[in-house]
Amino acid sequence: MTTIETRPHDVLIIGAGGAGLRAAVACIEAGHSVGVVCKSLLGKAHTVMAEGGMAASLAHVDDRDGWTTHFRDTMVGGYRLNNPRMAELHAKEAPERVRELEEWGAVFDRTKDGRILQRPFGGHTYPRLAHVGDRTGLELIRTLQDRSVAVGAQVYQEVIITRLSMKDGQVNGAVGYRRLDGAPVAFPAKAVVLASGGVGRAFAVTSNSWESSGDGQGLAYRSGAEFIDMEFVQFHPTGMVHPAGVKGLLVTEAVRGEGGILRNADGKRFMWDYLPEARRDEYAATDEEARAWVDDLTEGRQSSHRRPPELSTRDNVARAIYTEVKEGRGSPHGGVFLDISYLPAERVRAKLPSMYEQFKELADVDITAGPMEVGPTMHYIMGGIKVDAEIGQTTTPGLYAAGEVAAGLHGSNRLGGNSLTDLLVFGRRAGEAAAQAAAATEAMPELDQGFVDESIAAMYAPFEREAGEDPNGLHAELQATMSSLVGIFRVEEDLTQAIERIDGYKERWQGLRVTGPRRFNPAWDLVFELRNMLVVAEAIARSALARQESRGAHSRLDFPGQQEGWDEVNVHTLRGDGGMVVEQRPVVELPAELAEHVAPKVPAKV
Ligand code: FUM
Repeated sequence: MTTIETRPHDVLIIGAGGAGLRAAVACIEAGHSVGVVCKSLLGKAHTVMAEGGMAASLAHVDDRDGWTTHFRDTMVGGYRLNNPRMAELHAKEAPERVRELEEWGAVFDRTKDGRILQRPFGGHTYPRLAHVGDRTGLELIRTLQDRSVAVGAQVYQEVIITRLSMKDGQVNGAVGYRRLDGAPVAFPAKAVVLASGGVGRAFAVTSNSWESSGDGQGLAYRSGAEFIDMEFVQFHPTGMVHPAGVKGLLVTEAVRGEGGILRNADGKRFMWDYLPEARRDEYAATDEEARAWVDDLTEGRQSSHRRPPELSTRDNVARAIYTEVKEGRGSPHGGVFLDISYLPAERVRAKLPSMYEQFKELADVDITAGPMEVGPTMHYIMGGIKVDAEIGQTTTPGLYAAGEVAAGLHGSNRLGGNSLTDLLVFGRRAGEAAAQAAAATEAMPELDQGFVDESIAAMYAPFEREAGEDPNGLHAELQATMSSLVGIFRVEEDLTQAIERIDGYKERWQGLRVTGPRRFNPAWDLVFELRNMLVVAEAIARSALARQESRGAHSRLDFPGQQEGWDEVNVHTLRGDGGMVVEQRPVVELPAELAEHVAPKVPAKV
């Protein structure tokens, strides 16, 4: 029997990004003790990488905006696979969450009359993104970090959670180890909230930070929780393509939101050729109209012009750039050109300070004087843990989820800026629900000693093996497989091959070996991260194989266009006795009172 440092809390929150910290504030305000566990330091969560803004229909820049338009844009952008109740709650509550953030100290950019300024982003009908230059995620985390610590959150930094503990089918805590010294820690809890973010590290080129390794998804899956929509992986159209060391680093959509123009190697503004026929009339018809829209934006005027073609939805712009490069019209480093240098240098530096510095320092490019080179980068996963729309309850009792780890709000394609308000709206809701669950549970659970002993043995097993494979090689192979076979365009043969390879990687995972100290050993951390990435990779590939059509971010070359009937099902993945099970189940129906806000169905095979 091993004694173990034990940290009981009413609610344990795994992840200290926007969703985790907002959940923590909600729990504490409801009178509960909260432990927040994060893999890195507080304030370093991947949320800080969200640059361009948070979407909320404040209507400060265009007074025609309102929750119904935001709801419609989200549903149309997600090709109607979204959970409509989540899209409704998000659209209705986002403005309040943004104002609350301001009350807690967030300093947003302002309109001329002193209100929170909003900028345009792809797929949003009106300028809707409240922002702080191009550092919005950083400001969100700074504010929530102050708030959560001030109200009394206990934060455990640099801890890797390896297992959730369960009793009678209900989650009652978790175990892991401190990266600082490798010592095991137990966290008994009456309820657990997963807020651990995305899965970008399963891909070779990603905008995600090192934290995004599908940890919450892996923990949830092993507890029996279900996933939905895992086939929908968002490739952000614009990541850096050069130099190699920073390939994939985000180039915010705010560059296009502020007027950035995409051109190919022939100097052609190619997005005109890629606008979906059914939505073409939402976009400017000529360069002159697009320029008039930018001039209105620059002057802070409500525009009567339509938006430029670069502000099409992300799935569409990413496919367009990929196609231009593949067909030989790419830039020298395998991307396309994104140009905002036609605007006054002072304005570019004021609106996009991080982009200016990023390109100057990393690529020796002055974006006020010439174009950037950009290309698609894996950025976000729309799929994730299936949750109840109102409270973030997963299909495993005692387990809640919010933010990127959860699914439903974004359907098959997320609109930029909807994730930061997703974190706030559903982080708060999951936190409140976990607090209520904790209030209904009398005694603090005690973790089963057998479970603790077994967990500790499994934690240290990679050090005990006399021979075995290094986790870094396996990780590189997984990333190459996901990027080459499960990327922007997919076909059955590639997906089948990816699944076979992932099966092989799972076998090899059992024999991974780690050497060196337990103190800050990244290879050791990678063993547990890889186990989670393998779950996520398998769920993505199996769901992508199941969905025999192209919709949103999922493009099947062998099933082009939207196919009849597929707008009526979500693909679910879950753990079965013989391995991962894939099921098609009906979508949540769009109630009549919401249907009236959504544009008529786009016919199949468009
Ligand atoms: O482009 C961006 O600034 C990213 C924002 C988002 O993914 O919401």
